[in-house]
Amino acid sequence: HPERPNSRGWDLTHRPTLEALDAARGAHRRTRWTAAPSSSGQKYSRKDEHAPLEVKNPADPSDIVGQVRWADEADVQRALDAATPWSAPPETRRATLDAVADAYEAHAGELFAILHREAGKSLPDAVAELREAVDFLRYYAVRASDDGGAPGTWACISPWNFPLAIFTGQIAAALATGNAVLSKPAEQTPLVAARAIALMHGAGVPDTALQLLPGDGTVGAALTGSGRLSGVAFTGSTDTARRIRTSLAETHPPGTPLVAETGGLNAMIVDSTALPEHAVRDILASSFQSAGQRCSALRCLYVQKDIAPALIELLKGAMDTLIAGDPWEHETDLGPVIDAEAQEGIRAHVDAARAEGRLLHETPVPGTGTFVAPALIRVGGIGDLEREIFGPVLHVATFGAHEVDAVIDRINATGYGLTFGLHTRIDDRVQQVMDRIEVGNAYVNRNQIGAIVGSQPFGGEGLSGTGPKAGGPHYLARFRPAPAPMQGE
Ligand code: NAD
Ligand code: ALA
Repeated sequence: HPERPNSRGWDLTHRPTLEALDAARGAHRRTRWTAAPSSSGQKYSRKDEHAPLEVKNPADPSDIVGQVRWADEADVQRALDAATPWSAPPETRRATLDAVADAYEAHAGELFAILHREAGKSLPDAVAELREAVDFLRYYAVRASDDGGAPGTWACISPWNFPLAIFTGQIAAALATGNAVLSKPAEQTPLVAARAIALMHGAGVPDTALQLLPGDGTVGAALTGSGRLSGVAFTGSTDTARRIRTSLAETHPPGTPLVAETGGLNAMIVDSTALPEHAVRDILASSFQSAGQRCSALRCLYVQKDIAPALIELLKGAMDTLIAGDPWEHETDLGPVIDAEAQEGIRAHVDAARAEGRLLHETPVPGTGTFVAPALIRVGGIGDLEREIFGPVLHVATFGAHEVDAVIDRINATGYGLTFGLHTRIDDRVQQVMDRIEVGNAYVNRNQIGAIVGSQPFGGEGLSGTGPKAGGPHYLARFRPAPAPMQGE
């Protein structure tokens, strides 16, 4: 197949582009969107327990972004009954997914507005997210095929932190391979999901091949426990992936595919040969972009002892340049975390470090909305992190000149293996570290976020995911696995 280039994106430094985007976004400053199970239309006409819930802007709870009606058990059964694999030939699927990508780009202003107001995404984050969604669509469209076994019904269960890109990527993969999709977006971000599904249907994806089931984990659990799926694409926490694996094992035939992309305890090593300003720029992006709400985000920084005091001082100064505020505004670097529950959990972690005298620095943020102050916390090593703190919190440890191998052992011992960063100017060290580190995506002398579809397939190992990597050449094969040969064949 001829390769398709990635999305050109939107150059925010080009004034006419920015002005056109602002006009398109501006039309949706007060729009209220709706989401409902697609098998039951957009009407909220049922009895009280199905009344819609309000979706609020995490940066400003007085801003009502829309309403969602969650799916109930009957919606899930109806959707399973209606699901029909997409039997159109691969070239039709390819052209339709390309048309979806075009529709996303044509609706960029509206999609950015929802991403700002529902998910707290800053403008650069919203641009990156839409580009990634478009890239997934075009990358998988080119590879649409009828290879492998018979198509079936896939559940696509996605997280709130990439509510358009990951939501779209899972669906595009399952559709490109001719499956029917039941999509379950995260409970926090149903509106952008509903808008995306409408654009997909509008571009020609049949409504029996693609249905939306908004709701919380009980909707996901109803799907994975239905006994009626051909596979599950899941992105989210490692704990939820374990639950889904158990549920599938209890209710589905052995070997039912689960493609799970999960959490991480990601580290970066900065040795004393690194360029400090360069390293600090990349640490800042890796830890605090998207308010630290990326699975790829840096959680534990290892700095060589002799440069640690100076590097940490630089880092504190750099943190104080971050502008926290309304994600809609051009200058905002740091938006809110997704909701009050997340805010409370992250703050409790920072408060515990403060009480123990380990809080090295905190940068102030606005008082209203679910903002969390970017924080720097001293730790002995990555083993002190009991879980993934999914927010703008960076832990810092130090190491001696001869301890690089021991640090790598400690990082590998967490059992996670998603991203890793290294800043050094010693070529042999790059080789030494890359040979031993057990992660899916390792980056040298740059930040460790923002993998690009096609050129940087993304996914972890160990507790961080099952593979194959998203946006890579092997991903689609898992969505239509060839049947196992009969015994004796
Ligand atoms: P989560 O696990 O709480 O939820 C993810 C999805 O699973 C949601 O749609 C949720 O409703 C659903 N769900 C919850 N319980 C379920 C159950 N029992 N059965 C079926 N579905 C269920 O995760 P989250 O808080 O939405 O997302 C943040 C997590 O996602 C972090 O751990 C982050 O590292 C991870 N993540 C990983 C990647 C990756 O590519 N590896 C990318 C983004 C996010
Ligand atoms: N693919 C996303 C990143 O690399 C999660 O940051």
